[in-house]
Amino acid sequence: MAPERAATLALSDVQPKDLERIPTGIGELDRALGGGLVAGQVVLLGGDPGIGKSTLLLQALSTLSDSVLYLTGEESVEQVALRARRLGVETTGVRLLAETQLERVLGALDQSRPRVAVIDSIQTLWSEALQSAPGSVAQVRECAAQLTRHAKRAGTAVFLVGHVTKEGAIAGPRVLEHIVDTVLYFEGDPNSAFRLVRAAKNRFGAVNELGVFAMTEKGLRGVSNPSALFLSQHPKAVPGSCVLATLEGTRPLLVEIQALVDPAHTPNARRLSVGLEANRLAMLLAVLHRHAGIAMWEQDVFVNAVGGVRIGEPAADLAVCLAVVSSFVDKPIPGKIVAFGEIGLAGEVRPAARGQERLREAAKLGFERAIVPKANLPKTKIAGLETLAVERIDQAVRLLRDL
Ligand code: TYD
Ligand code: MG
Repeated sequence: MAPERAATLALSDVQPKDLERIPTGIGELDRALGGGLVAGQVVLLGGDPGIGKSTLLLQALSTLSDSVLYLTGEESVEQVALRARRLGVETTGVRLLAETQLERVLGALDQSRPRVAVIDSIQTLWSEALQSAPGSVAQVRECAAQLTRHAKRAGTAVFLVGHVTKEGAIAGPRVLEHIVDTVLYFEGDPNSAFRLVRAAKNRFGAVNELGVFAMTEKGLRGVSNPSALFLSQHPKAVPGSCVLATLEGTRPLLVEIQALVDPAHTPNARRLSVGLEANRLAMLLAVLHRHAGIAMWEQDVFVNAVGGVRIGEPAADLAVCLAVVSSFVDKPIPGKIVAFGEIGLAGEVRPAARGQERLREAAKLGFERAIVPKANLPKTKIAGLETLAVERIDQAVRLLRDL
């Protein structure tokens, strides 16, 4: 007997549906989600323990409060209630469930059919179908898959909270990224009040949209104009510091890049970068040597993006190089200067996307000069901002010397 055939559709016959968004009421979270939740959407919220995941979701629930189920697998219902009260969160309509067994959770979801459910955290759940311990890869994956199936069937939007483990998130959120619709990472330096929520994957919106928060006594507050957050305030210019005009999603952001170059006391000089790509630093040092004649193999080189922000874009290269050279020659970059541009292995400085926006933001924040790739020179002058174009890394280094 021939196997039954599955029916196909002509793509042109399918009518796309407009997505109806459910705003969470927290502007910065909605921004990271691309405008709010969609029915049946599964959102993974990953981050270090203690960064503020439970706080953020509890605050979001208060505006979604018509029909929400909050599953707490880590804290008692009393602890959640105490926090909700401290946060001044409106909780009518929020139902709590302290449960860690998946089948019972699914039963409760089936019965109450909330619009939004929060699973805090996915690592505490376990299914009786598996032998392994809660938090193991198999359990985390199985529980997330079953919850996702339920979300699609019932139209419930589900937040899965996942702790990122220090050891590289083996049983953590990474194993779930392909199962869920949206992945948000909650980042930030635990020693600073600022928190970033970044979309790393989103089937319903743009990725790399960024929500910015400050952790306060009364929970998380959205920061609507964050572009100057990541500048440390030096009374006067110091060596090893260069301000980068970067983009986070659609947002221009000014971030101070700091570098320290110091003679190495071990045979293998150290290269360490915090908030920037480690491999790129080694590459940039090689380019500086080959194309600008600056040798740093006997130097330890440390670079840091201020404020716990993580920068992935290669357009950070030029600012990193300038900060490193400034520290190496122990000469500050004078005046209010920003830089951006990608550096290639041949020593060329390549243009960055949306240069105009970066420059306008810099001008808005009182920067007076910008070192930019030639192709990013603005066609019409930006008021108050002098732009210095460079085509090659050695040219940028010379420019630094002459400033
Ligand atoms: P939490 O949401 O419990 O983190 P997670 O769920 O990601 O593990 O956040 C815990 C931290 O936030 C804790 O160290 C205290 C701090 N916090 C505040 O500073 N203000 C507040 O209003 C709240 C509720 C928490
Ligand atoms: Mg928590």
